[in-house]
Formats: sequence, C-alpha cells, structure tokens
Amino acid sequence: MDRLVVEGGRPLEGTIGISGSKNAALPILIATLLTDEPCVVENCPTALRDIKTTVRLLESLGKRATVDGSSVRVESTGSLKTQAPYEIVKQMRASVLAAGPLLARFGLVRVPIPGGCAIGLRPIDIHLKGFEALGARRIADQGDIIMSAARLNAGPLRLRFPSVGATENLMMAAAATPGRTTISGAAREPEIADLGAFLTKLGAKVSGAGTSTVVVEGRARLKGARHAVIPDRIEAGTFLIAAAAARGRLRLTRADPAHLEAVIDALRRTGAAVKTGRGWIEIRMEKRPKPVSIRTAPYPGFPTDLQAPWTALMTLATGFAKVRETVFENRFMHAAELARMGAQIAASGATAVVAGVERLSGAPIMASDLRAGAALLIAALAAKGRTVISRVYHIDRGYEAVEKKLARAGARVERQK
Ligand code: UD1
Repeated sequence: MDRLVVEGGRPLEGTIGISGSKNAALPILIATLLTDEPCVVENCPTALRDIKTTVRLLESLGKRATVDGSSVRVESTGSLKTQAPYEIVKQMRASVLAAGPLLARFGLVRVPIPGGCAIGLRPIDIHLKGFEALGARRIADQGDIIMSAARLNAGPLRLRFPSVGATENLMMAAAATPGRTTISGAAREPEIADLGAFLTKLGAKVSGAGTSTVVVEGRARLKGARHAVIPDRIEAGTFLIAAAAARGRLRLTRADPAHLEAVIDALRRTGAAVKTGRGWIEIRMEKRPKPVSIRTAPYPGFPTDLQAPWTALMTLATGFAKVRETVFENRFMHAAELARMGAQIAASGATAVVAGVERLSGAPIMASDLRAGAALLIAALAAKGRTVISRVYHIDRGYEAVEKKLARAGARVERQK
C-alpha cells in the first residue's frame, strides 16, 4: 500500500491546475444511463478511483465507456441491466445514483444497500421517499433495495433535508419521466447545477438547479450530449487551505472562485490575502492564521468536505477556534492523528475546539477517510520535519496526482509504493 512521505515546513510557491469535479462527474456519468445515444463527458478526473468505479458500474449495466485523458465517451451496446452489482456498490456509495435513471426508464431497479466512506450512517431514505412520491413501490428489502413502478408520474416533491445525492437521483428520474416534477427543499450545490445543465443538453428542461426549487420537465426519450464538468471546488479549497497552513503564495488555475465564497471569506478572516479572477484564485499567507470558527452547512455554507482541512489549519492558529459539523456524524476522525503531530483538539459530538499551537511536528500517521486524509496532508506540509502518511488510498479517492501537483508548488512530497 502506498505511503506519502512529506518533508514539511516549506512554503508553497507556484501554480496548480485544478481537476474536474469528482462529485459533479459522478452523477453526470451516471446520467448517461438516461439515453441510448452516445455521450462525451469532458474534464473528468479519470485518475480517481471513484471515477474508475463509475466507469465499471456503467459497463456492468451494459454501456461501453472509453476513457481518453480526461474525457469519457459512453455508448450503448444494446439493452441495459437494471441490477447494480454489489461488488461495485459496496466500493462506492454514489452507485445508488443509478437507481433514478434505471427506475424511470425501465420501471424496475435493484441496488444493494450502499457502503462508502465510514462517516456516519448515511441513509438513503430521502432518495427512496422521493421515488415513492413519484409512484414507485419498494417490493423487497433484504440487503437490496428493489423499486418498481409501471411508470413514474411527474409531480411535486419535497425533501426533508437538502441531500445532494437525493436531489441528483430524483432530478435524473424526473428527466426521463414525461411531465413536470418540482423538487422543493433541494440541495443547492454547484454540482447539482452542473447536472441540471447536462440533463438539459440531453433534452429535458431543467430550471432552478442550484436553487432550493428545481423544476424538471421530463421526456420519454432523451438524446446524447457532450459536456465539460465544472472544476473541483473541494480540491481547490484543499490547496488554498494548505497554502494558508504552510504559508507562501499559491495560484490555482482552472478553478471557479464563485463556488468557494464561504471558504475564501474564512481564509481572509485568518489573515490570508486572497485574490480571484475568472478561472483563477491566488492566495498569499505570511504569518500564523488568526483563529476563525466555522460551522459546516449545505451549500452555500462552509462545505463539510473542507471541515477536516479547516481543522488542520486551525491547529496552527494564534488562539482558539471552534469547528462544528452539522452535515455528517462521526467526522472528527482526523483529530486523534493530528494530535500525534502536536495538535491540541478537544472533539466531542459534533464540535471540536482547537487550540492553536506554534508548530506541528512530523510523525507517522494514518488517513482514515478521504477528507481526514486531506487534513493530515495539510498538517504534514506545515509541520516541521518528516511525516509519513499511510492508507493514502483514501486521499487518492478525491485528489488526482496530489503529490505531483504539490511538488509543482515546491512541496517535498514523495509517494512510496
Ligand atoms: C455528497 C458528496 C459528499 C459531500 C456531501 C455533503 C458526492 C458523491 N458526495 O454526498 O462529498 O460530503 O454531498 O455535501 O457528491 N441523508 C439522509 N438520508 C438520505 C440522504 C442523506 O439522512 O436519504 C443525510 C446523510 O446521512 C448526511 C446528510 O444527509 O448526514 C448529507 O448527505 P447528502 O447531501 O445526501 O450527501 P451525499 O450525496 O451522500
């Protein structure tokens, strides 16, 4: 298993190009199940394991998917299967997104109950309730979810919580269901707006994607399309926070600052100088960060996926900061590992209080999930001495060629096989 060896304490200086968004590419690739015509999805982070798993999922359902650099071409090979294999779903929770398109097109879908990251319970009741409101029935429940419907009926839906996955799943189901479906209480993440743009290219009419009310005019038959995925705001945010922790001057290209307002605002309050323009963000940090408390929330709030990186930054603050997690349970697994590097964090329930220290020191540490892994990497870049991070496969789920990108900004990060 790979490890990352980081010689910390060097400022980040240079330019990093941001990849396409993993969380936008996943539903868009899965939405190609809605049509028999060819689709090309560009700017996909195809080096990421979750994208490879998605490609395998499409193939297991009967599509042919060809990866060429960062684009994925998806074509039909005949009829589609309506059953997602457990072996794939257990590796990637987002596989459940195949349910919406398949149910709407074929009136039947069977998906194993998903696995995925070890953060909290992550139920899928909002997805299922939504399908039921569109007229589907749940016919069995033994480790698998089976949903059936002679046909789905478009109509109004209201979500009890703005779940990103449920919003996407229901938008896809609605796109292949003739008539008008209104999803209120929808998630507002930029990835949802991107999916809406793709579904519109397929021939559905989607308005309000990216607001809390999404209206989808579905069609029985959808066509093929070509689409370039938006930049990964979480990857960009991670590098910005890394530069604030390690100091220096970092420029991100192919990034969208409009998707990172809450994070850029918090960074400025720590004392970082952040400049933005069309497609780029630049950060300069020369001193220890001021403490800035944050509370995660659905978009446009502070993203839960950057909570662990933010906690890592606050371990170096000139005072106390409070970090509250409101989206997922059990998302402070990085606290214990950061403590091994000298961080002072008291985590209890959904809140962590971080007392900033002058410096962290390198240590052998272990990534426990994707974003906790990113937090450890940030701490390692800022720490004095050498840090060895094991279980790097967690980090590889969300960050393409992370050591190469960081090396371009002067970091000393090496992968050991
Ligand atoms: C997506 C992102 C993930 C991000 C999260 C929140 C992808 C592939 N993943 O995950 O990186 O951290 O949004 O921004 O896009 N919930 C329920 N019932 C449901 C669905 C969700 O209770 O049916 C709860 C979850 O347990 C969680 C919260 O709602 O506590 C948020 O989940 P959701 O927005 O659905 O996140 P994902 O789509 O899984």
